[in-house]
Amino acid sequence: MELEYLQTTEPTSTHKLSPIGKALIYTTGGLAVGVSIICIPFVSPAFRKICLPYVPATTDQILGVTKALAGRSGRLLDVGSGDGRIVITAAKLGFKAEGVELNRWLVYYARIASLLDNQCRGSKFYRKDLWKFDMKPYENIVIFGVEQMMKQFEKKLLEEANPGTVVVACRFPLPNMVPVETHGHGVDTVWKYVVNR
Ligand SMILES: C[S@@+](CC[C@H](N)C(=O)[O-])C[C@H]1O[C@@H](n2cnc3c(N)ncnc32)[C@H](O)[C@@H]1O
Repeated sequence: MELEYLQTTEPTSTHKLSPIGKALIYTTGGLAVGVSIICIPFVSPAFRKICLPYVPATTDQILGVTKALAGRSGRLLDVGSGDGRIVITAAKLGFKAEGVELNRWLVYYARIASLLDNQCRGSKFYRKDLWKFDMKPYENIVIFGVEQMMKQFEKKLLEEANPGTVVVACRFPLPNMVPVETHGHGVDTVWKYVVNR
C-alpha cells in the first residue's frame, strides 16, 4: 500500500528551461566569450617578458613629438602604434607614416581612423612584433615604450637603423645615447636622438 502511494506521488514534471531562459543563457555566454576574445590582446602584454601595455600618448607628448620632428621628412615608424594617433599626426605633417603594433584590434582601429581622415591617406599599420620588425628602412622612429625595454630597444636601433636616423622617445629615454633635444617635462618628456655609429 505504501509502495503504491510512493509510486503514484513521483514528480511528473521535470525542470525544463523556457525558450527565453535558454536564449538568455546562450546570449550571456556568447557575450562573455566575445568580450574575453576582444580583451585578450589588451591583457596579454602583462604576461610577456617585457610588458608594454596600451597607454595612448597625451596631447603634450604629441606636441613634443611634433617639435622633435620639425624640419624632418621621409619615412617614419611609430613602434607600438596603439590607436594610430602618432602615425596620423606624422602623416598630417607630411611624413610617409607607418606603425607596427601587436594588438590586432588597435591595428584595425588605427587603419579605419586613418582611412576616415582625408589628410593622412597612405599611412600603413602592420600587425607584427616590434622585436621582429626591421627598423632599417626608416629615417624617423618614434617609441613610447617602458623603462625595462629601452636598453634592448637601443641595441636593436644601433644594429639596424642607418646613421642619421632620428629617434624620438616618449616618457622613457634611451639609456646610453645622448639626446640632441628634449621637449616637455615629467611624464610628457620627449627626447630626440640621432643615430651615429
Ligand atoms: C605605450 S603604448 C603607445 C601607443 C602609441 N604609440 C601612442 O603613443 O599613443 C605601447 C603600444 O605597444 C604595443 N605593443 C606591446 N608589445 C608590442 C610588441 N611586442 N610589438 C608591437 N607592439 C607592441 C601595445 O599594444 C601598445 O599599443
